[in-house]
Amino acid sequence: MRLPADNPVFCAVDTNSVEAADHLAHRLAGRVGGLKLGLEFFAAAGPDGIRRVATHGVPIFLDLKLHDIPNTVAGAVRAVVPLGPAFVTLHAAGGRAMMQAAAEAARSEAARLHRPRPRLLGVTVLTSLDDDDLRAMGRDEPVAQQVDRLAHLALDAGLDGLVCAATEIAHLRRRFGREPTLMVPGIRPAWSGADDQKRVTTPAEAMAAGADFLVIGRPITRATDPADAARRVREELVAN
Ligand code: C5P
Repeated sequence: MRLPADNPVFCAVDTNSVEAADHLAHRLAGRVGGLKLGLEFFAAAGPDGIRRVATHGVPIFLDLKLHDIPNTVAGAVRAVVPLGPAFVTLHAAGGRAMMQAAAEAARSEAARLHRPRPRLLGVTVLTSLDDDDLRAMGRDEPVAQQVDRLAHLALDAGLDGLVCAATEIAHLRRRFGREPTLMVPGIRPAWSGADDQKRVTTPAEAMAAGADFLVIGRPITRATDPADAARRVREELVAN
């Protein structure tokens, strides 16, 4: 797998336009550790859109948040392996068998195609949900306990790591050690605004807390000069 050796930043390219994503990939190749493409882009542009972005040689984090029966999720993982994503996400709430099937599918399909294996990251509780939302779904534990429970399930089922909020990093490192990959969104460089993020952490704070990778979207994608914004993020990281 081509993992960013010295740049932990995955830029979130939240668009449904192949042209816009292609343009950003061109500007940002070599300036960020990778690009995060999500469900919106995949629904609009499909595997061809991913292939086009990948031609710029930048590692891809395919944020599909898969959640279905084990057979279907395994099939979806097998189908994306040829696209060569560095990371793929799935919902830990899909359960142990689903995650085990996904991990086995990633391993066996990558071996069959002689391709690098995508790293699978579990999503625990969406930050759009609070304790009341969970109760309405019959899940009575508070968010923090659900995060802990689902993180344990995901890692025990063989996933490589987790997507987590910066506020969860310290707890997850204490509980699960250095091994799991932690990918952290909700990051804002010191010089940028918060947009609609309620709680933000700077890149340096998140890395110091134990993040492996940072997801940063709008501070880079909406900057007048995205390449320069990526450079400033990097500078801020190196300086700290
Ligand atoms: O533009 P911004 O940096 O806020 O984008 C962050 C990216 O990370 C978006 O793609 C968003 O969907 C994703 N994300 C997030 N917070 C989470 C989980 C994912 O902002 N808790």
